Amino acid sequence: MDNRPIGVFDSGVGGLTVVSALLQNIPGETIYYVGDTARVPYGNKSQERIQQYSKEIVDWLIQKDCKMIIIACNTASSLAIDYLKSKFPLPIIGVIDPGVDKALSVTKSQTIGIIGTHATIQSDSYGNRLKSINPKIKILNKACPLFVPLVEEGLVEGEIPNLIVESYLSDFKNKDVDTVILGCTHYPILRKPIKYILGEGINLVDSGEATAEVVLESLNEHKILSDSLGGKLHFFVTDSIKSFKKTIIKSFSPSIGIIAGPIKRIDLH
Ligand code: DGL
Repeated sequence: MDNRPIGVFDSGVGGLTVVSALLQNIPGETIYYVGDTARVPYGNKSQERIQQYSKEIVDWLIQKDCKMIIIACNTASSLAIDYLKSKFPLPIIGVIDPGVDKALSVTKSQTIGIIGTHATIQSDSYGNRLKSINPKIKILNKACPLFVPLVEEGLVEGEIPNLIVESYLSDFKNKDVDTVILGCTHYPILRKPIKYILGEGINLVDSGEATAEVVLESLNEHKILSDSLGGKLHFFVTDSIKSFKKTIIKSFSPSIGIIAGPIKRIDLH
């Protein structure tokens, strides 16, 4: 048993979709969530920069005595997980491998669409992992950079998101894609317009949800599960508390029920 917190980080507010899944799977764990709101977005930055930012956050979380790190950001998982694992000895879990395993378990057509930020798509992290497990799998990749601002503006259903989703994902139609990996933290909030365009039958794989299941297994495996009945959720941001709270209230509370709890501002330097 280990009642120390789990450190979770993202470039900003999007990792709350992962937190929401964690709260359901491991309600007894205390979570320290860091949103690097001063330096978001990560999705258009270089690998070197993303590694540096991620390392600074993990250093901070380790100083706060975290027992495990969850990279609740697809971009940082794609570009920094190996680097972080080489620097820090504690368990570190990213969202890519769980998302891939889930997608492979549900696809029947063996044709998978992957959507994410430019950096995630360029890294080919999902594609490489999929191919390493099943070389025959067919993959269609698409960066969807406008999805993040749509979600942050609360534009998650109706004509505008439908049109934007259509413009990015029309390529997936008639290509036998039966499964799409939502390879960015914000995208699960856009389930409705994505299903509207690709059809109700499409499997949408939320990497955050898949990750939450793996986290429970890993806590058990390392014998560090908390024995508390109710964990606490603490938010830390690197920029304005007010705008972080506003985005939660506008976009994330209505979709995934996350409440803007106690938030502190931190400095990573
Ligand atoms: N959290 C990022 C991700 O999952 C999206 C936002 C950003 O570009 O930083 O890739």
